[in-house]
Amino acid sequence: MSKHDQPFDYRHQFKAGNLGDVFKHVALGAVLRALTADAAPLTVVDTHAGAGRYVLGPTGEWTAGVGRFDGGLPPDAPAAVRAWHAAAGRRTPNRGGTYPGSPRFTLGALRPQDRLVLVELIDDVRAELARHLDDPRVEVRAGDGLAVLEAHHGAPGRLLAFVDPPFTRKAEWDEVADALIALCAARADAHALLWYPIKSLTRPNAVHRRLQDAGVPALALDLITASLERRKKALNGSGLIVVGASPALEAELLALAPTLGPALTTDGAWELRARRWGLPPR
Ligand SMILES: C[S@@+](CC[C@H](N)C(=O)[O-])C[C@H]1O[C@@H](n2cnc3c(N)ncnc32)[C@H](O)[C@@H]1O
Repeated sequence: MSKHDQPFDYRHQFKAGNLGDVFKHVALGAVLRALTADAAPLTVVDTHAGAGRYVLGPTGEWTAGVGRFDGGLPPDAPAAVRAWHAAAGRRTPNRGGTYPGSPRFTLGALRPQDRLVLVELIDDVRAELARHLDDPRVEVRAGDGLAVLEAHHGAPGRLLAFVDPPFTRKAEWDEVADALIALCAARADAHALLWYPIKSLTRPNAVHRRLQDAGVPALALDLITASLERRKKALNGSGLIVVGASPALEAELLALAPTLGPALTTDGAWELRARRWGLPPR
């Protein structure tokens, strides 16, 4: 069985709206707004698209994610958090509701001249995605997302790779680094947003090192929302690697933590670890 064969024991359904989804979708919105600010057409390749929309039960990881914001936002929440919150709709405490996936958030930010390529490996998840994202700008693809990304390196206009794998295989950490290195070797104007879970910092650090050694300039933001020493196997936060961010976008992403950190912490502790390499001084 190859690494990309089905069946596959990951279902994003159980994680939809969790603390990782909140950070990734707020940041995705900010990146998309930055990239659609001028007229050049944008192609977004969402390499691991998921179902695009999730029905949430009364309990689940979403209660410690998007559920923390269902009562409202702090008055000083940044514009990116406000935009995400509006697009995410509302759930009812103890009842649930729905939560959008990255394809829906992305489609909501695109203009008529833009294009969205969605890749989902699992047949029934992909069928669900195709069913409710019927739009001429959208192409739903089967197969391996990183291979489809490679086939789009030459996309006209601007290109954003949104890379959000399940990280059920250790090798995925190397594969995502390889994919970003290949993307940046193929085009200097590439944009990428990679999300990863944080249990400890070992694997994130290794990805940072690989990109740095390969000369891929990037910003890495690790939003740690629990003491790392306490529960070594739990989701203790999540991280993003952003390639191609302007100074204004960098500042916008850095400013998310004072709103998201206190809201998403599981034990009262939170911290933003920001690293950047290969970029001009701020
Ligand atoms: C973390 S979830 C994606 C969540 C989605 N990006 C969002 O933000 O709403 C990862 C998805 O990737 C799919 N997947 C796993 N391996 C894949 C591969 N090699 N290529 C494409 N999709 C894959 C899984 O079935 C799952 O739906």
